Amino acid sequence: MAGRRAAWGACLGLGGGALALLALVLLRAYVLRPAPGPRILGRRPALRFELSARDRHELKEALKGAIKIKTVSFSPEEQNTTALAEFGNYIKKVFPDVFSTKFIQHEIIGEYSHLFTVQGSDPQLMPYMLLAHMDVVPASQEGWHVPPFSAQELDGFIYGRGTVDNKNSAIGILQALEFLLRRDYRPRRSFYIGIGHDEEVSGRKGAMKIAALLETRGVKLVFLLDEGSVILDGFLKGIKKPVPLIAITEKGSITANFSVESAPGHSSAPPKEMSIGILAAALSRLEQNPMPNLFGQGPEIMTLEYLASEFSFPLNLVMSNLWLFSPVISRIFEQKPSTNALIRTTTAITMFNAGIKSNVIPPSAKATVNFRIHPSQTVEEVLEIVKNTIADDRVKIDIQEAFDPLPISPWDDRAFGVQIFRRTLLDVFPDVGSVAPGICIGNTDSRHFTNLTNAIYRFNPVVFKPDDVPRVHGLNERISVEGYEKQVEFLYQLIQNSDISKLPKPHAESHEL
Ligand SMILES: *[C@@H]1O[C@H](CO)[C@@H](O)[C@H](O)[C@H]1NC(C)=O
Ligand SMILES: *[C@@H]1O[C@H](CO)[C@@H](O)[C@H](O)[C@H]1NC(C)=O
Ligand SMILES: *[C@@H]1O[C@H](CO)[C@@H](O)[C@H](O)[C@H]1NC(C)=O
Repeated sequence: MAGRRAAWGACLGLGGGALALLALVLLRAYVLRPAPGPRILGRRPALRFELSARDRHELKEALKGAIKIKTVSFSPEEQNTTALAEFGNYIKKVFPDVFSTKFIQHEIIGEYSHLFTVQGSDPQLMPYMLLAHMDVVPASQEGWHVPPFSAQELDGFIYGRGTVDNKNSAIGILQALEFLLRRDYRPRRSFYIGIGHDEEVSGRKGAMKIAALLETRGVKLVFLLDEGSVILDGFLKGIKKPVPLIAITEKGSITANFSVESAPGHSSAPPKEMSIGILAAALSRLEQNPMPNLFGQGPEIMTLEYLASEFSFPLNLVMSNLWLFSPVISRIFEQKPSTNALIRTTTAITMFNAGIKSNVIPPSAKATVNFRIHPSQTVEEVLEIVKNTIADDRVKIDIQEAFDPLPISPWDDRAFGVQIFRRTLLDVFPDVGSVAPGICIGNTDSRHFTNLTNAIYRFNPVVFKPDDVPRVHGLNERISVEGYEKQVEFLYQLIQNSDISKLPKPHAESHEL
């Protein structure tokens, strides 16, 4: 987070007569901590995740083989369907037990997506779902240390498009299940595995069809886990440990065309205002007047509350006293694009086209703007603000696509998924800090599943350092071999931990932290 000094300054700058206030701050920090302590499920017997040298080799080679298949989504209309089909054949070959086990049903949906139904031994338990996708965004040949579809290993990292977005999950889930099946595991709780083939270009042909099919079968899910957030290491100044952030919502989005028409003519006798100037001024007003800062009205406040105890002094005081420090923190968040995106609806002018000839008054000017909607706003509210800010009827607005932010998933002691994630993180990543809820600023396939569950979580058990962020959809995307093993271990334990029939009663719980 930017501006640690600013927050510290505000803390010191309370001035004379602030002793009583400081005492109250300390009281709240140490006695009335806002975030409840995590409730952790007790340990239960489980198949241990022990890998032979051969298993280890097989595990990383399975991922590498998948990376080499160029399952690129160029646009909703243009995907490499040869590669998508090849991916289907590949998983059949690499995970024979998954495909030959009697209690697992495999279906191909929308021609290339995969749905696995893993039938548990206890039909009374509500099933859950693990979601991932096989398609990737294109990769330029230049700028990579190794070719982007070569899956070469360098210094303990596997490089390639899709290593973290999201073949690590698609292959990792099947790998974890394959290992469990080889150890004669049969789940008690049923679960579904969905692997979409067009997530990068909307998910309408894959995930959306999987969701629709499950809905016709009357399926309800106790939780759904998709990609999204990660374990953050070194992102927040003042927090030493890596912290798992599990996204409980995603921002909404509006993509809109803005256009202005004007009478064409010769440039030698121009009117006072022309389409390009009118549209440029309107867009400039949008840029100069950002959407309101909504810090405190969405889940971003929960993120800080849950992380409060992880911050070192004095930031822990600041974070435990958001009632007092919100105004300061919200201004700090505004300073960097990555944190600004968490506290408001963002405005990005992404396309601008106008003009046909150097001496012709342009008949029209067109632009495209993408808004990403904060969880506490709606499409309608944002459009209202846009119209009022532009305040010019000559600017026509046409909506290309719009959807509201996703509902906020439960995050409390009764949230089954959250408790399973906590238990599993403790099993596999014993050294990480508090698990906190977060916001996904991009979108995932999980948004198509809101009719099946209100408990949608977006999280990949992979440790990210700040320099890993631009690799996603960028150059030199990679995953460490150790990090990928950990991801498979997480999934292996998560499947077993989910077999618990219900959460222990709050007063009978065992605190293991
Ligand atoms: C599409 O996939 C096929 C099969 O994997 C591959 O041979 C081909 O090069 C890919 N095409 C593009 C444009 O990536
Ligand atoms: C918006 O503009 C794009 C690009 O010019 C065009 O393809 C699309 O059809 C337009 N959509 C609407 C709703 O005007
Ligand atoms: C959920 O169900 C409603 C009512 O049947 C439908 O209109 C809507 O499109 C569905 N939502 C999704 C995300 O599939």
